[in-house]
Amino acid sequence: MPEVRLRPYRAEDAQRFDAEAQVPGALDFFGWAPSDRASRKFARDGMLGADSGNLVVDVEGVGMVGDVGWVPVFHGPPPNCFALNVGIGLFAEHRGRGYGTVAQRLLAEHLFAYTRFERLEASTDVLNVAEQRALEKAGFTREGVLRHAQWRAGAFHDVVLFSRLRGD
Ligand SMILES: CC(C)(COP(=O)(O)OP(=O)(O)OC[C@H]1O[C@@H](n2cnc3c(N)ncnc32)[C@H](O)[C@@H]1OP(=O)(O)O)[C@@H](O)C(=O)NCCC(=O)NCCS
Repeated sequence: MPEVRLRPYRAEDAQRFDAEAQVPGALDFFGWAPSDRASRKFARDGMLGADSGNLVVDVEGVGMVGDVGWVPVFHGPPPNCFALNVGIGLFAEHRGRGYGTVAQRLLAEHLFAYTRFERLEASTDVLNVAEQRALEKAGFTREGVLRHAQWRAGAFHDVVLFSRLRGD
């Protein structure tokens, strides 16, 4: 497999992501978003905030194939009860080649190396077998099912919650 790496967004990456997000079903589609959402976020903070961010998944010889991101989630009062929820979206033509597994492993390594968070979380639809398998292969542990946690495409969806701890 060609080398997969994570790198900061550039302006043209944000435009590419915005274009992709306008294709229904292409990414994790939760309804229409502003067509320049990623570009505006890039203009604000380069997609890298204090406790949240996005990085480009870049494949040697191919270029941008999607992105990974993280946001804080709260399990009690700050600052000691935060975890980071991580997510990924690969463009349709680049799925099923192992990139998602590697990208999520690299993201976990990056976040443990450069933040003090103890716990990473990831959740995905119970029907999303590829993501569940990719998370397991990236060192995440399945914890359980959150019933009707998401409203999407006219129905509530159950999601599976995964975690990876610093010591895992
Ligand atoms: C989910 C996603 C990140 C997985 O990354 P990927 O690069 O496509 O997956 P990988 O090639 O690393 O494969 C991981 C595992 O899933 C399996 N897999 C891949 N595509 C699959 C599919 N369509 N159905 C079932 N299993 C699949 C692979 O065979 C592999 O398992 P194995 O090693 O046991 O054979 C990627 O497909 C994606 O971005 N999908 C759209 C957005 C999304 O679902 N994001 C995450 C949920 S919020």
